[in-house]
Amino acid sequence: MKATKAVIPAAGFGTRFLPATKTVPKEMIPLVDRPLIHEVVMEAVRSGIDRLVLVTAAGKSSIEDYFDINPALERFLEEKGKGEILEEVRRISRMVEVLAVRQKEPRGLGHAVLCARDLVGAEPFAVILPDEIMDSEIPCLMQLDALFSRTGQSVIGLQEVPRSETGKYGIIDGDPEQGGAYRVRGVVEKPDPAKAPTRMAVIGRYLLAPEIFPILENLPPGAGGEIQLADALDILARRGELAGQVFQGTRHDAGDKLGFLMATVHYGLKDRRLGPPFLRFLREKISSLGEK
Ligand code: G1P
Repeated sequence: MKATKAVIPAAGFGTRFLPATKTVPKEMIPLVDRPLIHEVVMEAVRSGIDRLVLVTAAGKSSIEDYFDINPALERFLEEKGKGEILEEVRRISRMVEVLAVRQKEPRGLGHAVLCARDLVGAEPFAVILPDEIMDSEIPCLMQLDALFSRTGQSVIGLQEVPRSETGKYGIIDGDPEQGGAYRVRGVVEKPDPAKAPTRMAVIGRYLLAPEIFPILENLPPGAGGEIQLADALDILARRGELAGQVFQGTRHDAGDKLGFLMATVHYGLKDRRLGPPFLRFLREKISSLGEK
């Protein structure tokens, strides 16, 4: 993996999950027993990333605490003989180094990435949107890295979406090549279905060359008056410096309430202990609904 750092934008208010997000950062809402951010950080670590650059805001310090060592909790678990969970708690606090920077105003995803510039430096880096949760044998970022290493170009993760949903995503214009790779000619943020150039959506995983920073720095506000990462990607694409890779695996948009419920079912069923009784419960539930 060329990139060693992953930027995780986590400064938003999480308005779609209010009132819970009035006091709990969206990134800390759990899927079964692991916060959303845990899942995406595991993906990064499995891909070879060892440093996170969290872009945070006021009220978000529990995210940093989650990846920090908690000596009192570790002592408590040790004394109580709770070895298994102690091991997991220890692993989480030692698996990755966390750097953090504040995004002082909500000026958009592109602006959030620009806030990470000094901590990233002049090297390739990953960007992970923590409400998109990927489950795959080969971690999503690693799938992107194969193309990044081959072409030297920035690479974005892609997935085909129904035409009715193009207004929820960055959508590319481009041509398919071999092995799920795309030559990207342009990127447009959240187009109406009638205007979308393709149905290939940007799914919140990016491997970027540092050349993106001066582009972001000079970008005027775009859709919604915000500095859009998609607009910077569009400039890279027009220069012929952007590739796409179709993600092989299961994706859940846990930033959306229905997507979050679906992700909960997915991870609940995958859980070694909870999976079988949860499946029995779901079957009974569905058959009792069918009787009505
Ligand atoms: C952001 C990006 C968009 C991307 C999407 C993936 O939008 O701006 O290009 O397709 O994430 O989830 P958001 O969902 O933050 O509105």
